[in-house]
Amino acid sequence: MAVKQSLVALVLALAVAALPGLPPQACPAIPKSAQLTSDPKLPDPFSFFDSHRKVETKAEWACRREEIGQLFQTYELGALPPRPEKVTGSLANDTLTVNVTHEGNSISFSVGVQVPTTGSGPFPAFIGMGGLSIPIPSDVAVLTFNNNDMALQNDATSRGIGKFYQLYGVNATASAMMAWVWGVSRIIDVLEEVPGHANLDLTKLAVSGCSRDGKGALVTGAFEERIALTVVQESGSGGAGCWRISDAMLAAGVVTQTASEIVQENVWFSEAFAQYVNDTAILPFDHHMLAGMVAPRGLLSIDNTGYDWLGPESVWGCMKTANKIYQALGIPDHMGESQAANHTHCDFPAEQQPILDAFIGKFLKGEATNTSVLETADAPLGFVDSDWIDWTVPKLH
Ligand SMILES: *[C@@H]1O[C@H](CO)[C@@H](O)[C@H](O)[C@H]1NC(C)=O
Ligand SMILES: *[C@@H]1O[C@H](CO)[C@@H](O)[C@H](O)[C@H]1NC(C)=O
Ligand SMILES: *[C@@H]1O[C@H](CO)[C@@H](O)[C@H](O)[C@H]1NC(C)=O
Ligand SMILES: *[C@@H]1O[C@H](CO)[C@@H](O)[C@H](O)[C@H]1NC(C)=O
Ligand SMILES: *[C@@H]1O[C@H](CO)[C@@H](O)[C@H](O)[C@H]1NC(C)=O
Ligand SMILES: *[C@@H]1O[C@H](CO)[C@@H](O)[C@H](O)[C@H]1NC(C)=O
Repeated sequence: MAVKQSLVALVLALAVAALPGLPPQACPAIPKSAQLTSDPKLPDPFSFFDSHRKVETKAEWACRREEIGQLFQTYELGALPPRPEKVTGSLANDTLTVNVTHEGNSISFSVGVQVPTTGSGPFPAFIGMGGLSIPIPSDVAVLTFNNNDMALQNDATSRGIGKFYQLYGVNATASAMMAWVWGVSRIIDVLEEVPGHANLDLTKLAVSGCSRDGKGALVTGAFEERIALTVVQESGSGGAGCWRISDAMLAAGVVTQTASEIVQENVWFSEAFAQYVNDTAILPFDHHMLAGMVAPRGLLSIDNTGYDWLGPESVWGCMKTANKIYQALGIPDHMGESQAANHTHCDFPAEQQPILDAFIGKFLKGEATNTSVLETADAPLGFVDSDWIDWTVPKLH
């Protein structure tokens, strides 16, 4: 009897461990409420939140990544609901219809699907947050996600407006960006079920967006593990920038977007985040760790040095630091930062084409391209590692 029970328990434990999105069984629990301690430097990605125990293995990193995701949900982005009871959909006339039901409420939304007209599938695909502003090869499909329809982002009065909130209620803690992540996840749920997966290769999905939608693309890549490649374009502070570095830039007289400004401008972040924005040193993370959540999957941040508002020094320092997480995992070339010289915001500069093509080649087409890139057109941008980093990079085995 006892043997039988422990066998059942073992089988259950194995089943739970295998479910995507759930932490492996050995992960330490995340404290419900915790005392935050001030850390003016970029927090150590390799030290557990509560115990301060060091991450030494890749398996421990999986737990730490899960913990970081919980921390972002608690302090900055709001809760990401799990897959709801009922997700159905269909593909017709280049439109994917996604229907979702949760606790008696239903929503339906549409996604434009452009599948290549030459060659034979299954094709890799980009999901564009509100569309794409990067050039995509003709043998890659494009899905256009109307993220504003899921969660509005006009200004600070947009809180709770959009289809996500029709389903989960206007008081759901999820910020607009978390609602977008949820929407992308439901698109993939439906693609998994439509006949022939709409002629798409669901192991080769990418997400991209520019500016505010670039912030959303980064959050989506961080939380949705079915995304193989995340291309974040000119996302600035709140995306590829780190809050602490942006604050230092403003303090030095550079007019850049900070956490303090951003919560008054729009609803990209949760209401809970507002209480931390004037003292970002108290946050148990910064955005190098959001980017690190994408690992080991592909991540490319393409940026622009020409606009102070985007926090170019912040983005450069933050993404250089994020790469250290990929270094620890032994895959530094799965994450790239390419900061081009000034050009019109969200206009893709031709000189970044080879880098973009290399990432698409490696992560969407299985090619052995060179994706080693950590470069800024205006180097040095004033980010000195020792000013911001007081931890070392382990070799995770
Ligand atoms: C989705 O919802 C729409 C609108 O309510 C409905 O017309 C359609 O039949 C539904 N499709 C599926 C596959 O459930
Ligand atoms: C798809 O388009 C065709 C031709 O325009 C039309 O007859 C058909 O009703 C459309 N189907 C749907 C599901 O919208
Ligand atoms: C949302 O919260 C407000 C303020 O606490 C409350 O008045 C309102 O009834 C809540 N709405 C719903 C749908 O729960
Ligand atoms: C942060 O500072 C701004 C501007 O000074 C102020 O309006 C806001 O109330 C402050 N927030 C908190 C939580 O103290
Ligand atoms: C950057 O480029 C934009 C668009 O060409 C231009 O409007 C802006 O003045 C430039 N900024 C700087 C600092 O040169
Ligand atoms: C990859 O490209 C980088 C940047 O151009 C270069 O420094 C590096 O040597 C290349 N690596 C390989 C293996 O070709």
